[in-house]
This record gives sequence, C-alpha cells and structure tokens, in this order.
Amino acid sequence: MKDLLTLMDLSKTQIKKLVDFAEIIKKNPQKYSSSLKNKTIALLFQKTSTRTRISFEGGINQMGGGSIYLNWITTNLHLGSLPDEMKCISLYVDLIVARVFEHTILEIMSKASKVPVVNGLSDKFHPCQILADLLTIKEKFGTFNKVNTSWVGDGNNVCNSFILGCAILNIPITVATPPGYEPHEEVINWIHSNNKQDLLTLTNDPKKAVREANVIYTDTFVSMGQEDEKEKRLDVFKPYQINKKLLSYTQKAPFIMHCLPAHRGVEITDEVLDSDQSIVFQQAENRLHLQKALMISLLK
Ligand code: CP
Ligand code: NVA
Repeated sequence: MKDLLTLMDLSKTQIKKLVDFAEIIKKNPQKYSSSLKNKTIALLFQKTSTRTRISFEGGINQMGGGSIYLNWITTNLHLGSLPDEMKCISLYVDLIVARVFEHTILEIMSKASKVPVVNGLSDKFHPCQILADLLTIKEKFGTFNKVNTSWVGDGNNVCNSFILGCAILNIPITVATPPGYEPHEEVINWIHSNNKQDLLTLTNDPKKAVREANVIYTDTFVSMGQEDEKEKRLDVFKPYQINKKLLSYTQKAPFIMHCLPAHRGVEITDEVLDSDQSIVFQQAENRLHLQKALMISLLK
C-alpha cells in the first residue's frame, strides 16, 4: 500500500493488522518514541480540523519526527499546477496528509506524489476516522464477530467509510437516511461487486435501523462545504436525531459513536452524548494511536 485514499484500498487482513498494531502502540507508546526519527510529514488542508490535524502532528512528534501544517490557501497549490506542486512537496517530506473538498484532488495528488498520500477527509471518504473507530469497537467487544452496527443521519463521507470498514470486516450495518441522502453510489456499487449485499441494509426508518444494533453511529447533518444547504438539511434530518426516544426502540443497549465535532441538540442530544453508552472520546483518543500505526506502516 503506497497511499490511503479510501478503505477500498485495504484488505481485511491489512485493516486488522493496523488495528492490532495501534492497540500495541497504545499500550506502550514509549517503545515507538523514535520510530519515525528524521521523518517529516506535511498536512495540506482545505478545511479546518481539530482531531485529524492534532493526532497526525502530535503522533509524528511523539515518534521523533516532525510536521508541517499548511492551510491550502497559504501555499502556491492554488497558483501552479497541482501535479507540479505535489512533485515539489514530495521532494521535501516523507508523507502527505491532505484534507480536501473534492476527492478527485486526492487522486491527482496521489499520482503526482512520490511519497504516500493519506486522505485526511474528502467529500466522499474519511478512512482514518473509521480505522480508529474500528479500534474502539474492538476494544469494546474484544472481537468484530459480535458487532451489529447502525448509522443514522446523513449518508456522508464518514458514513461511506463506515460502511466500507464494516463490510470489509464482515460486520452487518443498517443505514437510515432521509430519501435522497443515501450513501455514495460508488460505495453501494462496491458492496455489490464484492458480494457484500447481505451485510448492508438501507432504510429511511431510524427506528428500524437501531432496533438490533449494539453500535449506533451518527455525524453532523451539515458537513464542511455544505453550509449553503444548512436550512434545508436541518429540516429534512429532524427525525434522525439520536435522542432518548430513539434509544427506547433499541434492544441491545448500544454504544453511541460520533466522529466529532458534534452539534449538540441537532444530530444528537446532550443526554445521549454525555451518557454511559457514549464512546465518543475513546474514539477521539484512538485517532492518535491509529494514526501512529498508519504512519509507521506507510513509512517503514
Ligand atoms: N473527526 C474529525 O476528523 O475531526 P476533525 O474534523 O476535527 O479533524
Ligand atoms: N462529515 C463531517 C465530518 C467531520 C469530521 C464533515 O465532512 O464535515
């Protein structure tokens, strides 16, 4: 694996190896304190970030390397040709993490770059988030075999990657979205061409989606770049809020997941986010450990 643009790039074995490795690093971070000595990563971001940026930058620093964060508009990426700029950047650093509006930008970057390119979130996918979430799920259940997941809300980038991560590990997933906000067709096509259709159920009914789940995942109803649609989305997504009422339809005391940032009182209530069922901060912490495992794996 040179790059990580989508979980479709990874096999079941590769995902499990990354998760296991992250678990090992988490238990003994000191052992890896000079694993990436003299390595430098560049973060090229078109959108804002808390967790992704800090877990990559903190992660490489804690392993003896360094990072350069560049807000896209302060570089000359927007002036010159993207492939030319990428060729130059890959002469200076060992790995590039990019957060972009259009996923196709990552594909251009990947082709031009001699060093690994990692998707730090695009309009279509958020693979690093879901790899860390799979670590959190493994910590909670000890195995992937007893897990039954549900996604309630927007069929967005995080949802697309969650479907792929679950399907690759043979975890069933039921996705409830409003009509017209289903997951990306590329993901649905991938599910069909890989004969995984038994694992994925699509519905418009959040109650149905949560009934059998022991993990429920949600995310913002208005992703970065969709601000113009905010008013309409907040209206359409109202019945998809994760609240006590919706949880009264569950049968298995599910864990509640959210990639954060959460919009409290919109896609999820305070009561649920702050409850004992919520594992959102464990998810956030695991970004650090998983990112470390990923960087070592790509750079070794
Ligand atoms: N979950 C996540 O990717 O958070 P940031 O957007 O803050 O990086
Ligand atoms: N779906 C959200 C995820 C943020 C981590 C967004 O793209 O803005």
